[in-house]
Amino acid sequence: MNDVCRILQIRYPIIQGGMGNISNAELTSAVSEAGGLGTIGVGTMAPDEVESILVETKRRTSRPFAVNIPIQVTPYVEEMASLVLKHNVPVVSLSAGNPAPLIPRLKEHGVKIIVVTASVKQAKKAEAAGADVLVAEGYEAAGINSHLELTTMTLIPQIAKAVRVPVVAAGGIGDGRGLLAAFALGAQGVQLGTRLIATKEAPFHEAYKQLIMDAGENETVIVGRSVGRVRRIMRTPYAEKLLQYEKEGVTLDEFNQYTSEEHHRRGALSGDFSEGFVNAGQIAGLIQDAPTVQELLDGMMEEAKQQLNQLQKIFF
Ligand SMILES: Cc1cc2nc3c(=O)[nH]c(=O)nc-3n(C[C@H](O)[C@H](O)[C@H](O)COP(=O)(O)O)c2cc1C
Repeated sequence: MNDVCRILQIRYPIIQGGMGNISNAELTSAVSEAGGLGTIGVGTMAPDEVESILVETKRRTSRPFAVNIPIQVTPYVEEMASLVLKHNVPVVSLSAGNPAPLIPRLKEHGVKIIVVTASVKQAKKAEAAGADVLVAEGYEAAGINSHLELTTMTLIPQIAKAVRVPVVAAGGIGDGRGLLAAFALGAQGVQLGTRLIATKEAPFHEAYKQLIMDAGENETVIVGRSVGRVRRIMRTPYAEKLLQYEKEGVTLDEFNQYTSEEHHRRGALSGDFSEGFVNAGQIAGLIQDAPTVQELLDGMMEEAKQQLNQLQKIFF
């Protein structure tokens, strides 16, 4: 049991990354039941929708889980914080905005705080604001990324050196080797996004899961650079359209409309890749199966152990 497991009260140091608007109770509770930390990503969902997912998750698991509040994405920051307190959710993960104003109220009630960061500067600020755990996310990751575009490999050791709270690596981790590598760089846990899409319990459209399983190393693409809204998605017909709009000089407002939650759900839940987009990280190239979450987490921990044994033969 390391610091991340102790603080979050989990068995495996593996966290489900927030997945705005397409989280459901089944995947969240499956991750928590498997020994990790499941997360409900609130995205832009209305408070009553989130509350029903929360209630259902609590019905399915008595283990800890988190709620991810993407601060500049949701119009309901205060309402989400109130829901967390009303339902005694033990962990909150804050991303996409300044977490400082929210942290004192949540901590006062004993809620543990994870803050997602993408630079040393952000990590230091989040630690000073009271974060208990920091996620350091490289731009290999699926979804919205920092415009700084720093990689996980370089971020982890720099952030781990700069802060005292435990660091969790996110972006590009898909198996036990990635888990072990993150630990070697100074992380005490990993956060998964892309790898969890291709699991039995994930609520995504089968065509999305298949796209991840069929992907090669170079099938994700960054869109939104031209408007300062960096997002990594799968290279689909809709992604090509977005790139074309950027070439033609799309504005930030227009880009936000083209990448609205409606277009996200259309891709991720309906499998419509002409009018909807799907988030995916570079690690998609490694993923070839869709196990249960329990099989995935047990397998990652076992593979990390085996890999460590192999490496011991070289280094000792
Ligand atoms: C479908 C999907 C939706 C996501 N939505 C969010 C979100 O709402 N908030 C957030 O902080 N991160 C979000 N992410 C990022 C993940 O939480 C996670 O940090 C990231 O996927 C890790 O990198 P990986 O994809 O290489 O595993 C999303 C990722 C995916 C795949």
